Amino acid sequence: MTPVTPVRKDVDTGGIELDYSESVPHEEIGEKAICYGNDMRNAPSVSHGIRTLYGKVLPSTRTGPLYNAFSYPTKISPEAIAVFIGSHTKPGEVVLDAFGGSGTTGLAALLCDQPTDVMKEMAATLGVKPEWGPRQAHLFEIGALGSFIAETMCHPPDPEMFADAVVQLVSQATSRVGWIYQAKDADGHDGLLRHAIWSDVLVCPGCGVEVTYWDAVVRRDPLSLADAFTCPSCRNRCDVDACERATESVEDDMTGTRIERKKRVLVRVFGRTGTAKWQRPPTDEDRAVVSRVESAPLPASAPNERIVWGDLYRAGYHKGITHLHHFYTRRNFLAVTILWELTAGFRDEFRNALRLLILSYNATHSTLMTRVVVKQGQRDFILTGAQSGVLYVSGLPVEKSVFDGVVRKASAFKKAFALVRGSSSKVVVHNSSSEKMNLPDGGADYVFTDPPFGGYIPYAEVNQINELWLGSVTDRSREIIVSDAQGKSVDDYGRMMGAAFGEIARVLKLGGLATVVFHSASSDVWRVLVKAYSQAGLVVRATSVLDKLQASFKQVVSDVSVKGDPLLLLSKGRAPGENTVDAEVVLQEVFAKAAVGQKAERDPQRMYSRFISRCLELGMDVPMNAREFYGRAAEPPRKPR
Ligand SMILES: C[S@@+](CC[C@H](N)C(=O)[O-])C[C@H]1O[C@@H](n2cnc3c(N)ncnc32)[C@H](O)[C@@H]1O
Repeated sequence: MTPVTPVRKDVDTGGIELDYSESVPHEEIGEKAICYGNDMRNAPSVSHGIRTLYGKVLPSTRTGPLYNAFSYPTKISPEAIAVFIGSHTKPGEVVLDAFGGSGTTGLAALLCDQPTDVMKEMAATLGVKPEWGPRQAHLFEIGALGSFIAETMCHPPDPEMFADAVVQLVSQATSRVGWIYQAKDADGHDGLLRHAIWSDVLVCPGCGVEVTYWDAVVRRDPLSLADAFTCPSCRNRCDVDACERATESVEDDMTGTRIERKKRVLVRVFGRTGTAKWQRPPTDEDRAVVSRVESAPLPASAPNERIVWGDLYRAGYHKGITHLHHFYTRRNFLAVTILWELTAGFRDEFRNALRLLILSYNATHSTLMTRVVVKQGQRDFILTGAQSGVLYVSGLPVEKSVFDGVVRKASAFKKAFALVRGSSSKVVVHNSSSEKMNLPDGGADYVFTDPPFGGYIPYAEVNQINELWLGSVTDRSREIIVSDAQGKSVDDYGRMMGAAFGEIARVLKLGGLATVVFHSASSDVWRVLVKAYSQAGLVVRATSVLDKLQASFKQVVSDVSVKGDPLLLLSKGRAPGENTVDAEVVLQEVFAKAAVGQKAERDPQRMYSRFISRCLELGMDVPMNAREFYGRAAEPPRKPR
């Protein structure tokens, strides 16, 4: 027997050492494991083309106007979904997405009638020959924001007329309050603010003197953030983490109460004069503009809405944030209010598109959640948006010019609308729970869906920053999620997911297929997912991996992340009874295949996705969490019993 090829030394294992030197012979494992389970070669209804598709890793890029127009946590490239729809259905057929999110399955259905070059290339690379042409799509989404994005993106206005409407909107806003973003360059020439950095204020634990976080931690040449500093007053060495953050008590004219909030001061101003960009420390004139905004009354239309906190509340950086406007500087809250108010003056077909444009910039770039980050080798801070999937406010929040940002963002929308406008496909968005779908039995030919991954993203809580502007929030009681704040355990989540899969099975026609993208580092979440689809009478016919080519923030930072989401192909049917495969055999099979596969296949996170997929194909529960799996991946291989 040939030993498994040892891992090459240049392999990037994400910091985990893989040692295959005493690994179990490949053929031995392969023979033991591969003959079990529900392999799709025994499934006559799965065509050769589909089999080919699931034999490859599905690339989901994070590029292109349709992807970039609006950021929504965990979204998938519409072009990749379109290739799936095109391969699993014929023109005229009906696609169902039970967890529609921001509507990418709907966009994909529209694209099937107007395929892009990217889609054609992807299909060729994946070895499939989709029959392009119109499809019908039904999307179910409990979230108010997701449904609004989906509805608006899937029913786009004329792109040119939309672009004109944006110019009008921003020029109206500028004539009303353009002064809020005025700033002079260092030579005193008039210019406009591009963005400004604000800073928390630290209190020295030794003498009580206040020092800006900026002065305390920012180091130059090379740029870095220090963990400790010397107090300029008492000269004591202070640990940043040991310092309290200064607070201030202010009158809040929106709530009519006195509130205690974190103190923040302006520390750096970035602007432009003509086409020349500049930056400098703040001046008294900048501070005067800030004071003028503070004392200017807000329009009556400004939303005075309470934040409903859930799992994301953190006592430190959320101090004093009880209402929507507390997530903003007054200046940016005023700017968004004015833009929003002005949209009411536009014709119906543009109003929602303009509101979507404002929201696309709002939660990601207009609030105090906007950040700067330090990147190795860069001389200056890198400006970035809010972290996806959380409501994090950093110690150096950034205030970007909302008017500039909305204008910049408009071009992605214009291009996105142009890609899907004119398609003969039809998309219906249902803002309701997929636990009960008002569609007939057997009414869908194919399902493509991306359910919520346990408690990974609290969508309703995160999305409220935009939903409160829309005046419509998600019904959290029907949100399928694992959440302490909502009192929903893994089993509650499993029960709700069971109802949704029951509906998927009812609506899917006999012989129809369902592609499910799912991702969890927890074996408990996988257990209830498997139970949900199995009890609904669905069975795994094939598996693959969806490779989000640039991982999301949460995927990168979480030490238990799963890079490359498992992709399951389900059809109606039952697993052929209790499976008794030894988990160790499957584990060794996965390690052995990875050892002889491409470099990406030896990434521990990819191996975990493969392990999960293999377990599900074999009809067994996923026996270990990601953390435990990564531990095993770092150990020398054991011989299966
Ligand atoms: C992983 S996301 C889907 C993302 C989507 N593929 C996209 O591209 O935007 C899962 C979605 O399920 C939604 N959801 C949660 N509970 C639901 C329910 N009971 N019915 C319908 N949708 C639900 C969440 O609001 C979230 O938008």
